[in-house]
Amino acid sequence: MKLDEVRLGVNIDHVATVRNARGTNYPDPLEAAKIVKKAGGNGITAHLREDRRHIVDKDIMNLKQYNGLPLNLEMAVTDEMQNIALDIIPNAICLVPEKREERTTEGGLDVCKSINRLRSFLEPIKGKNIRVSLFIEPSEEQIDAAKTIGADIIELHTGHFCELYEKKDENYMEALRALEKATSYAHKLGLEVHAGHGLTTESVGLVSKIPEMKELNIGHAIISDSIFMGLRGAVQLMKQKINEARF
Ligand code: PXP
Repeated sequence: MKLDEVRLGVNIDHVATVRNARGTNYPDPLEAAKIVKKAGGNGITAHLREDRRHIVDKDIMNLKQYNGLPLNLEMAVTDEMQNIALDIIPNAICLVPEKREERTTEGGLDVCKSINRLRSFLEPIKGKNIRVSLFIEPSEEQIDAAKTIGADIIELHTGHFCELYEKKDENYMEALRALEKATSYAHKLGLEVHAGHGLTTESVGLVSKIPEMKELNIGHAIISDSIFMGLRGAVQLMKQKINEARF
């Protein structure tokens, strides 16, 4: 079976984390986006958090105006974020659960629990032809619920798999199987499947091998590698690892 390319969406939140640590104008996420494009990245992902701890509204505006790569806006299900999405019109939004006290997005969205709220939340967004992705755990119930509310994409949370893989806990194979099963199930329902969270150049190959996988969104590992090898080199290395596993 001939496999398609897996796209790499680069999450540039932590470029803004470094900038905000000193309250300067640099490093600028927009400059990072331009380098990602030159290095062969396929999209930009940015999470505008309620507390604006990294990416801020101006960054999203700049990234949208730049328009050099598709913009995937990660956001919580709040009225404020809905208004911003309707104003900016990114290529896609990815809905994530958000807690102020968390360090990063811990766990997927519980779509089953909020079907009605999500349906009405998404109606105006879908009306603007913004693609809708839901960040969920690899569970058939969550996938069914995502399909029911009309999502275009699911993004599978790879955090559990990556945690086990990093610890060399052999249960990582079971976590990988769950991702494979969920990908195949969602694909059969007509959903596009993405994945992300915690992926590194070491763990990315196993997830890249999943035949129906379309896109991986990776941030922390790429920005970390870029400290030592530059952002261009870090994006190129991640793409290389994905392609090696795939072709
Ligand atoms: N996808 C989603 C939905 C996320 O929330 C995050 C983290 O912001 C990522 C992907 C990227 O995760 P990481 O920074 O661990 O690569």
